[in-house]
Amino acid sequence: MVSLSHLGPEARSLAMLPSAERLARLRMERWIGYTCAHQALVQLEALLSDEPGKLRPKNILIVGPSNNGKTMIAEKFHRAHPQRMSEDGEHEVIPVLMLQMPAEATANRLHTALQATLGTPVGFYGRHDVREALTLRLMRAVGVRMLIIDEVHNLLGATARRQRELLNLLRFIGNDLRIPIVCLGIRDAYLAIRSDDQLENRFHPLLLPLWEAGEEFARLLASFETVLPLREPSHLATAPLCELILRRSEGTIGEITALLNSATVAALLQGEERINCAVIERADYHPPSVRRRMVERELR
Ligand SMILES: Nc1ncnc2c1ncn2[C@@H]1O[C@H](COP(=O)(O)OP(=O)(O)OP(=O)(O)O)[C@@H](O)[C@H]1O
Ligand SMILES: [Mg+2]
Repeated sequence: MVSLSHLGPEARSLAMLPSAERLARLRMERWIGYTCAHQALVQLEALLSDEPGKLRPKNILIVGPSNNGKTMIAEKFHRAHPQRMSEDGEHEVIPVLMLQMPAEATANRLHTALQATLGTPVGFYGRHDVREALTLRLMRAVGVRMLIIDEVHNLLGATARRQRELLNLLRFIGNDLRIPIVCLGIRDAYLAIRSDDQLENRFHPLLLPLWEAGEEFARLLASFETVLPLREPSHLATAPLCELILRRSEGTIGEITALLNSATVAALLQGEERINCAVIERADYHPPSVRRRMVERELR
């Protein structure tokens, strides 16, 4: 009888399945908690439960490299506050409205995105001020208490004039509805917000830096180990594995996930029940910089 005490409850039942079934289920998204994510979620909760209608609602800007868990945090928070029916059963309530800053952003495209997320038929290109009034009326009608905008760095793709227009619009929405705005994006998102002094003052930046060697990283790997459906402990949090995983993944949580999934596949395909350095070296995984170089070589 194998002891599966290194696994969480879900992985424990998965681990007893035959390898083929475990392989099929590996691609499932799983949430792994870590300190920065936990702090971000706590702050988002605090913002949402802040007394509504504050004169100067606080905003948050979650900044970090691509593939480092920003959207996962926002989605987890969003799932905890889903769309529902009002208590009198009369209308929809959308406490948290989440959308992406459109590519090649314009105020008009942002209105379209907002209205589409609010469930309104789009394709209405009226006067700007009419659209603005409609967006605000719809947001108020469904009781939006927080606006989350992902991929805010898309702003920088717009001309300076359009950027100003979009930032004004964000400021206006926040002021008019008195709701907090949460923006997510890579470093350019910070640069975009910073170009508007008034907005910059109101955005509290929350950084999701690349992972570095240390206790926190070891804890992250220990958490990963509890969800990978392997029957023997891999001790991912021990020094040689930590070092190898950090070096090959180049430090984003997305790459760490991809590497560990590939290593689990490699282990299962070879009838092994744990990950070690040799399994990682054999896994079908290339670090991002190597992948980039491979593509560049092909394009030459
Ligand atoms: N908390 C987490 N638990 C488990 N896996 C995670 C977690 N956060 C991120 N990941 C993994 O990393 C991948 C990338 O995460 P995410 O899409 O949130 O990155 P991002 O920072 O929004 O990137 P981008 O700036 O490119 O949009 C996810 O698809 C998932 O596989
Ligand atoms: Mg994202």
